[in-house]
Order: sequence, then structure tokens, then C-alpha cells
Amino acid sequence: MPFLQNTWYMFGHAHEVTTDSFLNRTIADVDLLVYRKTDGTLAALHDLCPHRFVPLHKGKQIGDAIQCGYHGLEFGSDGQCVKHPVTGAQIPKTACVQSYPVVERDTLIWVWPGNADRADASLIPDYSFLTQPDRRNVGGYLHTLANYQLSSDNLLDLSHVQFVHSSMQASEAFERSTFRVEQEGEEITTYLTLPNGLPPPLYRTMLDPGTPLDITFEMRWNLPSCIRLRMTGTAVGKPEEQLFQTMSAHVVSPETASTSHYFYINSRTTDLDNPEADATIRNWQEQGFTQEDKPMLEAQQRYIGDRDLMSLNPAGLKTDAGAVRARRILAERIANEPQIPDRLDTRSYA
Ligand code: FES
Ligand SMILES: [Fe+2]
Repeated sequence: MPFLQNTWYMFGHAHEVTTDSFLNRTIADVDLLVYRKTDGTLAALHDLCPHRFVPLHKGKQIGDAIQCGYHGLEFGSDGQCVKHPVTGAQIPKTACVQSYPVVERDTLIWVWPGNADRADASLIPDYSFLTQPDRRNVGGYLHTLANYQLSSDNLLDLSHVQFVHSSMQASEAFERSTFRVEQEGEEITTYLTLPNGLPPPLYRTMLDPGTPLDITFEMRWNLPSCIRLRMTGTAVGKPEEQLFQTMSAHVVSPETASTSHYFYINSRTTDLDNPEADATIRNWQEQGFTQEDKPMLEAQQRYIGDRDLMSLNPAGLKTDAGAVRARRILAERIANEPQIPDRLDTRSYA
């Protein structure tokens, strides 16, 4: 399936791009170079010199321009060639690079590979909790050898936690769990509730390990594969009596059809200055995402290959409902937009 073009893809965490170091990443099959201009704002260019087609990331940043590392042409943030290294030499009209809309918001960097005229920043999913005061964020990045929709499926159906993450997150309440899905326009929210169970091992340092509670995982999904988790623990049968809550961002951007970028940030409101709490979360992210989710997704990818999951007529479970809706919304959007005909000349795209 082709990738949705007219959408915001997360490119990276804001701290990954500084005025001293640009970052190249392939997003939805488009090689991109994102850098920070001297005023701190971002620029995104196709990571490809139009002269002999070497990646621009092999060059260097000079002021607000990128100098190709091969023959020294320099390109500004709008993609125009601004300098030939030989004084007086002519710059051909074809010496320009595709530039892309790029936005920094809520500590995240977003790029729009489609028609720049349609790049409305208000379409970026809301992750404003990441910049609210009195929160502590711990996050990271993981490269996965699997299609991004497999990651999205994984996140929208947290019943896998009981099995894939059993040592840290299994709950004795799982057999009594309930699952439901809500949809509003193109936004989907899934709710998995584990009622009246003792805290899973991961939460035993912050909760009384002997007191049961109700835990709800609320996953909000937005196009193309942007997820926000709100996890709440409440007194048994009393949803108004909140014992803890964490929020987290889980954003997956396709790299190619069979590889993806997974960005995650856990954001908490307790234990803000406690390095041990940071370490506990980092350990969980390393174990849970890198050692447990990633091998499962990559094993899935090896079997499925370039086939569409739904074409394999998978057995359906109730807990697939959110993922199935997300796939449907994405497929409809892709089917309804014109495709970029030639990646080396995307300026004509309408
Ligand atoms: S390949 Fe970039 S200037 Fe020649
Ligand atoms: Fe997982």
C-alpha cells in the first residue's frame, strides 16, 4: 500500500536536531534532511543533491544553508541553490532541492511530504501534555524492522501486554478485562480496563502492592499512526477516586514499507525529581519496547512480508476493533489522494 502523503509524520524529537547537528531520516520512503537554522527554526530538505544525486547529509551546514559534500553547491532552506563554490560560475535553474513543511511542536518535529499548500499545522495531533509544567518526561527512539501499521495494531490492542510484557505488566485482573472502542470523526479511542486487580509488578513501587485497583488504558489514535496513552488507576468501583495517572506519546512513522521509526515519551506527574523513577521507566522502555515488542513485530513482518495483513484473512478478535478501524481510515485516505508521480520531481504534485 502506498503511504499517505498529505499528513504530518513525526520526524524526530526536537532535541535530536541542533544548530550543530542535522539529522537525516527516511520517512514514508522520502529521504529527508532536517536542520536548524541559525535563528533556531527548522528546515527540511530532500536529502539528495540534484547534481549527482548524493545525499546532502554527507555535506555540512554553513549558516542557513547545506553545502553538498561532493562538489560544494549550497542550498538554502527553500531548496534553492544559493552558492556555487567557484566565483562567477553559473548556477543552473535545475539546481534546486525539494523543501518540505516542517513544524516543531510540543518537543516533537513533524514533516509533511505531500502538497505544501495543504500543510495545516492545526492538523498535528495534540501532544501538549508534554510541555505542561510539573511533569517529567522520559522518552526515546526505536528503529523496527516491521511495517508501521503492525506497530499501530500493537498499541491499539494492549491485551498483548498480558503476554508480551508478562514479567512487568501482567495483571491478575486480565481474565475480567473489558474492551471498547469509540470513534469521533477520524479519531479513535480504545479503552482496556482491568478491574479489581493487584498492581502489576511495574507499579508496585508507587502503589500499595496489597491494595487492588481498577486500571484503564485509554489509547487515542490519530492519522497516520500517532497514539497517546492515558493510563489511570482508580479505587475499585470508584472511577472518580484516582490513584495515579500517566500519559505517554507513542508515534510511529513509516520509514519504508517494512521498516519504521517508533518514538515514545512517558510523562509523569509524580516523583518528578527522582532519578530512580527515571531509571525505572527507562528500564521498562528498554525491556518492553526493545526486547519484547520489537522481536514480536519483526517476527510478524518476516511472515507477512509485503502482503497486506487484511488480505491474509486474519482471525478477528474483539480487541482488534480499534486497529481495524484505524487501518480502514488510513486506507480510505490513501485511496482518496493523488499519488506523487516522481519522487525526484515532486514540485508538480497537486
Ligand atoms: S553532487 Fe552535489 S554538488 Fe555535485
Ligand atoms: Fe507492547
